[in-house]
This record gives sequence, C-alpha cells and structure tokens, in this order.
Amino acid sequence: MSDRITIVEVGPRDGLQNEPTALPLTTKVALIDRLTEAGLPAIEAGAFVSPKWVPQMADSAAVFAAIDKRPGVRYPMLVPNARGMADAITAGVREVAIFGAASETFSQRNINCSIAESLSRFTEVAAMAAEADVRLRGYISCVLGCPYEGAIDPGKVGWVAGELAALGCREISLGDTIGVGTPGKAATLIRHVAETVPTDRLAAHFHDTYGQALVNLYAAFEEGVRIVDSSIAGLGGCPYAKGASGNVATEDVVYMAQGLGLETGVDMDRLLNATRFVAAAIDRPPVSKAAQALLAKAD
Ligand code: HMG
Ligand code: MG
Repeated sequence: MSDRITIVEVGPRDGLQNEPTALPLTTKVALIDRLTEAGLPAIEAGAFVSPKWVPQMADSAAVFAAIDKRPGVRYPMLVPNARGMADAITAGVREVAIFGAASETFSQRNINCSIAESLSRFTEVAAMAAEADVRLRGYISCVLGCPYEGAIDPGKVGWVAGELAALGCREISLGDTIGVGTPGKAATLIRHVAETVPTDRLAAHFHDTYGQALVNLYAAFEEGVRIVDSSIAGLGGCPYAKGASGNVATEDVVYMAQGLGLETGVDMDRLLNATRFVAAAIDRPPVSKAAQALLAKAD
C-alpha cells in the first residue's frame, strides 16, 4: 500500500443536508473552521442546489464567504447545473463537484432528469469550470445498489465514470448511497471502473447504512484507492434515498489509517474538537465508534 490517503470531509454538505432543520450559518462556519484546524486537506462546504429541493444548503454562498479558507486546503461545493455553476463562480469557489448516478430512477428523484440529460447539463458546467479554471470533481450515486432499482450493473458505473472523466473530472467519487455494498462487491466494482478511470483518480464514498462502510473502504484500499470521502461524527444521508444513513465517519477512517500506517495529515485531537462541537450542535452523540471510545477516554 502507498502510505498516504486523502480524506475529503463531506460532513458539512452530505451530513448537514440531511439534518431535519438547517443549522445556523455561524455553526456551519465554526464547524468547517474546526475541520480545517484538524488538518483535513479537502472539506466539502456546501451545495449550490435548488433551495426548494434542499433548504438546508440555501446559505452555501454565505458559508463559503465566511469560512477561513486555508491555502492548500480544497473547499469543493456541489453544483447540479449551469445556474449552480454561475453561483459558484460568483462566490469565488475554486472546486466544484457535479453529481450523477448509475441508476435512472435515482437520477430522476435526485436531480429531476435522466442520466443522459444530466451528462449534457454537466457538459455545460464543465465548460464553465474550464473557462474559470475551477477544479472539477464528479460523483456517481448508487454504484453498489439503488433504493428504487436494486442491483446496479458495474459496467454502467464504469460507463458513467468514463463520461465524467472525459468532461474533465479530476477525480470520480463512487457513491454507495444506501450503503448496501459488501467488500467483495466493492472490490469487483473498483476493478471494473479502473478499466475506464485509473484507480488513483477514484474516491470511495461509502455510506454506512448496513454497517459495511469501513470494511468496504478497506477493500477499496486493497484495490489501490487512496481518496476517501467521510463525514465528521458519521453525519449524513441523502434526502432522496429513503433510510440512507451517514457516511463512513472521519474519526473511524483516521483511526484505521493510523493503524495501517497510512498518513492522513489529520490531527485526531483537533478532529475530536470538531466532533464535540457538531455533536452539541445537533444534540446527538457521534455514531463513530472510534470517536465514542476516544471521547470517553478523554473525559
Ligand atoms: P428542477 O426543479 O428540475 O429545476 O430541479 P428547474 O431548472 O426547473 O428550476 C426550478 C427552480 O429551481 C427555479 O426557480 C430555478 O431558478 C431554481 P423558480 O423559478 O421555481 O423560483 N434552480 C436553482 N436554484 C438555486 N440553485 C440552482 C438551481 N437550479 C435551478 N442550482 C435541480 C433540478 C437539479 C435544480 C434540483 O433537482 C436540485 O437542486 N437537486 C439537488 C438535489 C440534491 O442536492 N441532493 C443531495 C445531494 S446528492 C447526494 O447526496 C449524493 C452524494 O452524496 C453521493 C452519494 O452518496 O451517492 C453526492
Ligand atoms: Mg453521499
């Protein structure tokens, strides 16, 4: 195994988009600043999506303006269409993530269009991003199963990944949106997709609905994946995937990486400051087992 992984912290977006009520702007900013303090190299700070669809992300431009943007740290924002991309450029965002799916039904429910239509929208977004020199990231949802269609053909995931890479996505994040994957299936998927997009450009974005996210991540590591999307305190879910729970927790990923001798650049004590802060803000303990154990020891 190469000895470094890159963690993309998605809690402020994937986590907070799923909270029943939006957190105040100042709380979001204070959380992101604590995550920056912890040494995370990339923090997804919000989404330029329709506030009618996801009201929790409506203040994303204000969040982006207010956070302490540390040089060398990436703060990507989600963008579904040209309107969102224009807002991102106006806000001065340096990296955006477009998000498609490997399931037609999920694509309709999440972004109100077919996969083919989404790719044509993303073509416009990608051209705007290239023109403004904005880094592009791509997500694919439902890579290991769909809440509406069930099993998903890995070949379809590979095809969407190839299309996103051709649009200029520097990395492609493979979303197990509803956390149904198991390690063998995760490994098979990555081998398939790697035929189209090299492994060093793939990210694992695994939700923990069935408690498989960390072990699936280990399988992804064994296949050579070194980019991980995770969420502080295990926050998260998707408003358009009923019953989906949070992402693999950042604390669990950092703990496992430390044990494996994989460098993350993240300081666990500072990360736990962010854990304490967000747990108080949402009035729930972290779902991360590592965070629970480390916080109990510290008290
Ligand atoms: P639509 O209703 O088809 O869009 O939604 P429209 O173009 O017909 O516009 C409708 C209204 O929305 C108009 O306003 C537009 O101006 C406005 P009105 O005239 O009614 O007042 N609008 C916008 N406003 C702000 N920002 C925009 C924007 N675009 C249009 N960018 C649309 C289509 C894509 C906009 C909508 O479906 C949407 O916003 N979807 C986002 C859903 C979402 O954020 N889901 C969660 C994130 S994805 C996820 O969690 C999965 C992931 O984590 C990976 C994984 O786990 O699998 C990434
Ligand atoms: Mg997600």
